Amino acid sequence: MACICVSGGRFLNGEIKIQGSKNAVLPMLAAALLIPGETKFRNCPDIADVRAMAALLKKLGAVVSRDKDMLCVDARYVHPVFLDCGDMADTRGCILLLGALTARFLEAHLAHPGGCVIGARPVDLHLLALRALGVEIEEGEVILAKAAKLTASEVVFPVPSVGATQNAILAAVLAEGRTGLHNVAREPEVVHLCHFLNAAGAKISGIGTAHLLVEGVKQLSPVDYTVPSDRIVAGTYMAAVLSSGGKVFLRGADDAELLAVIKPLRAAGAEFGIYADGILVKKGRRLAAFDYIRTQPYPGFPTDMQSQFVALATLADGVCVIEETIFEARFKVVPELIKMGARIYLDENKAVVEGVMTLAGANLCGKDLRGTAALVIAALAAEGESTITGTEYLERGYEDFVGGLKGLGADIKRVVK
Ligand code: EPZ
Repeated sequence: MACICVSGGRFLNGEIKIQGSKNAVLPMLAAALLIPGETKFRNCPDIADVRAMAALLKKLGAVVSRDKDMLCVDARYVHPVFLDCGDMADTRGCILLLGALTARFLEAHLAHPGGCVIGARPVDLHLLALRALGVEIEEGEVILAKAAKLTASEVVFPVPSVGATQNAILAAVLAEGRTGLHNVAREPEVVHLCHFLNAAGAKISGIGTAHLLVEGVKQLSPVDYTVPSDRIVAGTYMAAVLSSGGKVFLRGADDAELLAVIKPLRAAGAEFGIYADGILVKKGRRLAAFDYIRTQPYPGFPTDMQSQFVALATLADGVCVIEETIFEARFKVVPELIKMGARIYLDENKAVVEGVMTLAGANLCGKDLRGTAALVIAALAAEGESTITGTEYLERGYEDFVGGLKGLGADIKRVVK
């Protein structure tokens, strides 16, 4: 089994190029199913979730090839195929095939998706949207979708959901008429999907707002598209620098997508340089305790940065309260950080963290994607050696996180035991 070994106490210095966004490219890859031709995705991250999605597209008959950082998807000859649990187990993003397959074939037959066990992760909002567009759905062990045709509709989401919004957009772009999507998620990954689809000939307006208008079109055309940088990977490296100390330039990071992350870090004493081509982050003195952190839908504080902030809070000067409002089981890092000497008290969906002066290296168990990254962040600052399991989670979303940190000066390696 592979694990990560870290010897803490080294500063991070230099520059790292931030990879393409996992959560932006997964819906775009599903959207490629709607495009009869070869679509090119430049700056496409080479991560396990993308490989899982590419394997599904191939199973559906697409021709998928990679040339360095460019992934090409030719969906001319795709056909509906049942995607079973084995196919779907790896990533939550595969649920986005539901909207794309229904739009292309008026039918879809797939198992429930996998993904990080950070909560129940139901799909009721996805099904609500598709049903509103005229799709008949049977949900049991598998999800069966069928439609005589997709018809424009007004879809009102009771709560914003990133994936359900993306599925609704994918189902609406080829539906006859004008669809209104209301109370949609406004995450950058939804905005990027809309821009990608419009580049392919879709007609989506209201992009970035809570209300989207989708004018159905007859057909989409292949595009040569550059995947935007991954805001959560950028935020994760930011937290790594502020944990270990040092100064790093995050090439390609877009501060406009990270305002809710940068603000509390700056207030806690982190130093930033904001440039057109990236963000410089520098740790000066010990971080002060953060003001109250509450995860919220965008533009609020992102839940995908919550574990990384808990790790940073363990060494901050004061007490931090971090409240998780999106997922019901996203504090799995807490018992692991306590093994290192952290002082954390869990009160339902809140973590109360009293900063200490030092953490001690320990044997740590990563249990989800962002949590495993957070354990690495803590280990970088700890005294002594840490071993961290869960590399399989990291590799789902980070392109060589260990290599990236090593290149910045960390004493870190991936070992197979
Ligand atoms: C996307 O997940 C991301 N994953 C998640 O990133 C991210 O944490 C999440 O959005 C929130 O920003 C991908 O894009 C592949 P949601 P998604 O639907 O779409 C509830 C990572 O680390 N809900 O916005 O699954 C749900 O339980 C991952 O990269 C329903 O109740 O998130 C949650 O409480 C983790 N019914 C809330 O909505 C539904 O049908 C928000 O979930 C759908 C969701």
